[in-house]
Amino acid sequence: MTPQGGAARVFFALWPAPSVRDELARWGQQAQRECGGRATPKDKLHLTLAFLGDVEAGRLGELKSAAATIAAQPFEFVIDQLGYWRHNRIIWAAPVTVPAALAALVAALESALSTAGYSFDQRQYAAHITLVRNARRATEFSPVPLRWEVDEFALVSSTLTGQGSQYEIIGRWPLQNVCRGDAAVTP
Ligand code: 2AM
Repeated sequence: MTPQGGAARVFFALWPAPSVRDELARWGQQAQRECGGRATPKDKLHLTLAFLGDVEAGRLGELKSAAATIAAQPFEFVIDQLGYWRHNRIIWAAPVTVPAALAALVAALESALSTAGYSFDQRQYAAHITLVRNARRATEFSPVPLRWEVDEFALVSSTLTGQGSQYEIIGRWPLQNVCRGDAAVTP
């Protein structure tokens, strides 16, 4: 639930369509069987674009206005790599090559957030989908590459509960094809 007062822990993300989500969930189950840990529940699978952390509930409107200024084209990419981070015991999925359109969307978001006075995690951006937490080791399973068509991005609120983090999508923005000719019309 989005807090009415205080701060909300928020991040921008890509949320997968059901077919992509179901396949990623299968990968997570397979990796969990092999390496232990806790597979991310199907409805929580996502790819973070920018992590803001705590934002005053009263500033969420401003944050949404900043997101609405983003102009980016729909795109697709292929998730074709599984990996393991030993330091936090996460098994993740990611594209081997981050598509230019994804990097451009992240850069546009970071720029809009900075202009609006927000700070976000400044570490080198690593596009990934967390499949399993607390895994003992890397998985040897190598899945068939999965195509993900992206036509919107989302603002998500995260609340820590007894059952782990609960996510709620609190805003969605479509990516739209920009007709370049429109701006160039002269009488
Ligand atoms: P993770 O899955 O690798 O933990 C919600 O917590 C989302 O934000 C998750 O995708 C999480 O990545 C990411 N996240 C959490 N803390 C973060 C931080 N300090 N910097 C960047 N991303 C973070």
